[in-house]
Amino acid sequence: MILIVGGTGSLGRATANRLLAKGEPVRIMTRAPEKAGDLKQAGAEIVQGDLLDKASLFKACRGVNKVMASAHSIFGRGWEASKYVDLQGHIDLIEAAKSAGVEHFVYASAYVFGPDYESVPFFQCKQKVEHHLQASELSYTILRPTAFIESHAHDLIGKSILSSGKVALFGKGERVRNFVAADDVAKFAVLALTEEKLNGQIVDIGGPTNCTNMDVVRLYEKATGQKAKVTRVPAGALRVMYQLMRPLHPGLSQIMQFSLYNDLKDRPFDPQPLLEAYPMQLTSLEDWMVNHVGSRSASMAVA
Ligand SMILES: NC(=O)c1ccc[n+]([C@@H]2O[C@H](COP(=O)([O-])OP(=O)(O)OC[C@H]3O[C@@H](n4cnc5c(N)ncnc54)[C@H](OP(=O)(O)O)[C@@H]3O)[C@@H](O)[C@H]2O)c1
Repeated sequence: MILIVGGTGSLGRATANRLLAKGEPVRIMTRAPEKAGDLKQAGAEIVQGDLLDKASLFKACRGVNKVMASAHSIFGRGWEASKYVDLQGHIDLIEAAKSAGVEHFVYASAYVFGPDYESVPFFQCKQKVEHHLQASELSYTILRPTAFIESHAHDLIGKSILSSGKVALFGKGERVRNFVAADDVAKFAVLALTEEKLNGQIVDIGGPTNCTNMDVVRLYEKATGQKAKVTRVPAGALRVMYQLMRPLHPGLSQIMQFSLYNDLKDRPFDPQPLLEAYPMQLTSLEDWMVNHVGSRSASMAVA
């Protein structure tokens, strides 16, 4: 049995669907089982649980051979802040997996672009959980993907352009960054959960698209056929805002800080070494839009 914590999210759901299609037994842990109706339909077992509730983690791990940790709470505040869910909750999950005799633990971390990366609290949590897992004596694979198209290109930029013709960007949006499709990351998660070749490895994963947030805006403008109204929060204001926001809303604060980090310099990723080691087709942002934004928009988007 493979337990997926965060199975209702972009990566977890894509991983679950790929595993179910291979006939693997899958258990999804979610705080809200009604969100997992499609996965139940596809054959997954659904259990209710919360990374903030230790007892539910022990229960979810019972009878499980492998665990995929693909939950996060980057936007969280109060009890849902990263320090509770992304740090302590994941440490508790690793301990629950260990005591249940789990054979292999796959952790969705995040790609490290440089030393300044650790200034963002969310990434400090990721590093600490990686270290805890590596010291745990559990067999593990750590996946370190770049920004998902689903969240960083579509949810944070494209969706608003499609629905209102407007978008607010944190920073100038003129620095190059890398986007990867969650479903491509899921291919590696499935490899890590079903074969042994990724055991003990840290796998850096990025997609074929290196572009700026403004390039994303332009693609969605082509998709709608209209110029979007773009509002930008300048870097200086972001720097002040993220610090003021930290005690009030740590999630929003770290998103601002992460945006500032992205706005400081280009942070491209070269997927070539990954593709040489694991030959596969990776999805570009344009191809993702063809499949998810709709055929009329898509043909315009890639024109
Ligand atoms: N998105 C990115 O750009 C990106 C980039 C690099 C790495 N990653 C990492 O990849 C993983 C998956 O990200 P994603 O974007 O696919 O996630 P997502 O779509 O935002 O989904 C978040 C998931 O976390 C679960 N979750 C949140 N709080 C929880 C809690 N207290 N207890 C249990 N589950 C909780 C949610 O489950 P329920 O609401 O159903 O309980 C949901 O399934 C995360 O570890 C993330 O840090 C993401």
